[in-house]
Amino acid sequence: MAMVPASAAAISRAGELIRAGQLVAFPTETVYGLGADASNGEAVARIFAAKARPRFNPLIVHVASLEACERLAHVDTRARALARHFWPGPLTLVLPRRAASGLCDLVSAGLDTVAIRVPAHPVAQALLAAAQRPIAAPSANRSGHVSPTLARHVEADLGERVAMILDAGATTLGLESTVVTLTQTGVVMLRPGSITPDDLEAATGEPVTRALDGGDTPLSPGQLASHYAPRARVVLDAAPPEPGAALLAFGPMVPAHDAAMINLSPQGDLIEAAANLFAALRALDATGAATIAVMPIPTQGLGEAINDRLQRAAAARTA
Ligand code: TXA
Ligand code: MG
Repeated sequence: MAMVPASAAAISRAGELIRAGQLVAFPTETVYGLGADASNGEAVARIFAAKARPRFNPLIVHVASLEACERLAHVDTRARALARHFWPGPLTLVLPRRAASGLCDLVSAGLDTVAIRVPAHPVAQALLAAAQRPIAAPSANRSGHVSPTLARHVEADLGERVAMILDAGATTLGLESTVVTLTQTGVVMLRPGSITPDDLEAATGEPVTRALDGGDTPLSPGQLASHYAPRARVVLDAAPPEPGAALLAFGPMVPAHDAAMINLSPQGDLIEAAANLFAALRALDATGAATIAVMPIPTQGLGEAINDRLQRAAAARTA
């Protein structure tokens, strides 16, 4: 049984599991989160696999404090003011990633920004202390299902897909955190949540712009201009690749090839491939190749999200 009361001993074990790259569901003041080490690409890939998410949305990284946040991202004066006002609590700030953040690329879905929040729930804080890692955590439900406010909701939805579910009763807010980003023109709300625009305006003295397309999929990341798209033309299902094209390979059967090549997973493991995807696209793009040829990648399981992302990368140039 994965569900256990959130005792000190259980939280300490959960911290070990996070450090070992496993998934742990835990309560926050908003909803239960499905947590993994945000610096471990394969652990983060397991989140997408467990949720059966057909797309790689960037995830929220949970840290213990503003100081811990500053080690991962650049925090300007305005962001610091918001953090001081609302943290710990249900506000997520989208901030520029530090080059040496140590975060995996998948957690940001290849973006140069990262969404960070400091949760107020004592169990979430205790887990962060035990793990000593930034913890990526979307809501702990299957993709398309409602967010869990009880541990047994997580059990029903994800069951054996998580190593442990820390049970601390009902979450108090029951609604996800508010996601904001700071632009030249002011505070932009990317996802409505527990903190209202009025709360934000009262704290900043600035008007809040809403950048919404509703629900769990707001203006980020697909619609954001900043979403990483390679400069190179991307050609899918290319076997064999055209001469001179950089090759994004998958699996053991790689065709003979004369230009740059990165294999997402020589063993054909979709979790490993997902973990490597964004860094590989960037690295092949950086070679200056005009074309990135992508070998066929299976579409089942995580392969669906991998193919979705590659199709977007391929479409970016033709659109
Ligand atoms: O209350 C919550 O926020 C819960 C609990 C577990 O903390 N977590 C949660 O995480 O809802 P998640 O990963 O499902 O929410 C991520 C949201 C999405 O709307 C996503 O598009 C946005 O944050 N987001 C994440 N990174 C972003 C980025 N770099 N730029 C823009 N939006 C981003
Ligand atoms: Mg969700």
